[in-house]
Amino acid sequence: MSPSKSIVRSQIKALLEAGHAPGGEVLVKGWVRTRRDAKGVSFLEINDGSCLANLQGVIDEGSEAFSRLKELSTGAAVSVSGLLVASQGGGQKWELLVNSLELVGPSGPDYPLQKKRHTDEYLREIAHLRPRTNKYGAIVRLRSQCAWAVHDFFRSRGFFYVHTPIITGSDAEGAGELFRVTTHAPESLGRTEDDFFGKPAALTVSGQLEAELLALALDRVYTFGPTFRAENSNTARHAAEFWMIEPEAAFFNLQDDMNLAEEMIKFLVSQALEHSRQDLELFDRFVEKGLLARLENLIESPYVRLSYAEAVDLLAKSGTEFEFKPFFGADLASEHEKFLCDRFGGPVIVHDYPSSIKPFYMRLSDDRKTVAAMDILVPKAGELVGGSQREERLDVLLSRMTELGMDSEAYRWYLDTRRWGGTPHAGFGLGFERFLMMLTGINNIRDVVPFPRTPKNLEF
Ligand code: 4AD
Ligand code: MG
Repeated sequence: MSPSKSIVRSQIKALLEAGHAPGGEVLVKGWVRTRRDAKGVSFLEINDGSCLANLQGVIDEGSEAFSRLKELSTGAAVSVSGLLVASQGGGQKWELLVNSLELVGPSGPDYPLQKKRHTDEYLREIAHLRPRTNKYGAIVRLRSQCAWAVHDFFRSRGFFYVHTPIITGSDAEGAGELFRVTTHAPESLGRTEDDFFGKPAALTVSGQLEAELLALALDRVYTFGPTFRAENSNTARHAAEFWMIEPEAAFFNLQDDMNLAEEMIKFLVSQALEHSRQDLELFDRFVEKGLLARLENLIESPYVRLSYAEAVDLLAKSGTEFEFKPFFGADLASEHEKFLCDRFGGPVIVHDYPSSIKPFYMRLSDDRKTVAAMDILVPKAGELVGGSQREERLDVLLSRMTELGMDSEAYRWYLDTRRWGGTPHAGFGLGFERFLMMLTGINNIRDVVPFPRTPKNLEF
């Protein structure tokens, strides 16, 4: 390499997508996946994280780098430059004839990711290194792709991206699954008067209530942020920290809400198919055979919609022996969700749930038996979306809160929006990790978050 010549550094994705050899010299920086030595030549598989594909570097006997082959073990960081040429061998279109090579960060035989398939359980223990594998690199790229698509979707529909508080003084769902926030040492816990906020504080379980306040001023908003739940359910679908997308729109009813959620899911999936095809093909091959066909189906067919009463009826008459007997007033268990998705061969929207199992803010029906709620159940992830039309009538809202033993004074700010200029409005929450499970076929939520937080697990 002559010092006067400037060589442009490229990411492997851009090089391979260009579809033609630039001819000039290129510089690539990345990590060695494998090295294969043949007679008089060595092949280096380099991955830089920009895409699933590796770039094959060809190191010829004659080159200076050939004398340093021993340093180039799996996991090492390298910087290589050379000519990109049409590949002689099969398996790849382009390869790099290495002119110059710099070992940036050595590796060694104790590198934990030697070339073999590792179990998901083992990889969770080395989550600091697993993004360097094909599967986990692909997951991180897909997360990024889908996050961008979320913003594209809402922006094109006139929704404003808003940020709701992470630390809150209220429990949105009225459920006791909060992580407490305090500056007190353990021995003085529970003493709130002289604590930071002077009152009990917690990490948010949902940005919904604040999103409602904003929707009743800006018409359409959405949040996309972390939420926290201390449910001690050690399942494959629950994380203590997860990301939720919560749109809220004024003048929306439950139908509008269901339509928006269905459109959004279809948009995210179609964008992933368009922009992350290669990554998805990996999951189709190694995680869930037929994944791509399932995803195509997910964007083509309309989602089945049925009321909770119809769903329970269907379950009860199915002749299936469920562990939990379905009856009106019971939560749908994951076995029921799975049955419904299998039965209809795709996502199912269940609406109009019993008021007895839903929170105070959902719009009550005239007979007070049901609320205008909807859940979207999907293959692989179970409940993906939970949403509702909100109760806009002050008197009904107050009576519901009394019924549930809630202190309406603590929610005065929320009730004010019903006092002045209240309108029908609706929204939903979509669990981002559950979406990624559905998208990739991955069965455990711990494997779609780079560094998952679950009961008794706070590593990295
Ligand atoms: O059904 P949820 O509890 O709804 C709400 O929080 C509403 N306030 C949303 C709204 O209307 N703005 O949660 C919404 C979604 C669930 O359907 C699920 O996908 C996901 O959030 N979710 C979780 N994901 C991972 N781990 C957990 N522990 C989750 N709990 C809920
Ligand atoms: Mg729910």
